[in-house]
Amino acid sequence: MNELEEVARQFEADLLEFGAARAEELRIKYLSKKGIISKLIEKIPTLPPDQRRDFGKRLNELKSRIEASIKQLAEAQSDRVSFEVKLLDNDLTLEGKRPPVGNKHVLFKARDELFEIFKHMGFSFFDGPELETDFYNFEALNFPPYHPARDMQDTLMVGDMVLRTHSSAMQVRALQALGVPLKAILPGRVYRREEVSARKYPVFYQFDALVVGEGIGVGHLKWTLETFLSAFFKKKVEVRFRPSYFPFVEPGNEVDVRCVFCGGKGCNVCGGTGWLEILGAGLVHPKVLEYGGVDPKRFSGFAFGVGVDRMTMLKYGINDIRLLYEGDVRFLSSL
Ligand code: PHE
Repeated sequence: MNELEEVARQFEADLLEFGAARAEELRIKYLSKKGIISKLIEKIPTLPPDQRRDFGKRLNELKSRIEASIKQLAEAQSDRVSFEVKLLDNDLTLEGKRPPVGNKHVLFKARDELFEIFKHMGFSFFDGPELETDFYNFEALNFPPYHPARDMQDTLMVGDMVLRTHSSAMQVRALQALGVPLKAILPGRVYRREEVSARKYPVFYQFDALVVGEGIGVGHLKWTLETFLSAFFKKKVEVRFRPSYFPFVEPGNEVDVRCVFCGGKGCNVCGGTGWLEILGAGLVHPKVLEYGGVDPKRFSGFAFGVGVDRMTMLKYGINDIRLLYEGDVRFLSSL
């Protein structure tokens, strides 16, 4: 009896020691014709008759256990071998296929360049909703109800809300939220009811720069414009002001830059004029300051609105705004 237990213990130890790689050796040691189990079977006739039956039964059990264990071990081994063979089929030393790597959209590349410049100039950033009230988009910016100036920006309505038509919609929000002195960039996506063309798209990106404090005037405006435009186009940029009308600034200006392509000689980008129309600007209207809770007798400010799309197109030489929105990877990955 003890002998069988001894063999069982020995087998457990061998199982660990031989492992899957030597399953066959283990089989030979225990289960072959000259193996340990056969030796034990041969012993049965030599036992006293009253022990043979019990010994035989236990020996059988032990044999089955050993067979099952070795079978399992052999299977594990053959799985491993076929796995190794598969790995060899896929030559692991070959170079892998690289998935294509994306790049930042050119519009956001340009936007981030612009924001970086204003960050360095000490501006903070203020965010507002795209779905806006008539009050912030128009009324607080001194567009009276039914005033024809509202038609300057064909508006998309959602119920009695408007999809903001310009980032200036955040001016009064920023004044109310942050107070004065204020020096902030108000960036965001804006919407207009517009036929799609090479120059117009019904959704685009703008930001307003809004600076309000004591004694702020046109000189600050001009310096800020020249500084940021020169940094963005990486050359000294000359600006000129043309009088223009926006209800929320007084005086209001259209700002042109000396054409960054031809240097003013005239080319097809500037239409031969030597100047590029790039943004609207002016001194903040006293009514707007009042709506923002700021005393216009004590404080003054300037604002300008920049079309991010236009700046992107000028800097990267893109002649069709649709390219910025239609997601053609061949175009986008080339920039
Ligand atoms: N919001 C104006 C537009 O979208 C631009 C502008 C901004 C003009 C700030 C003056 C001052 O056309």
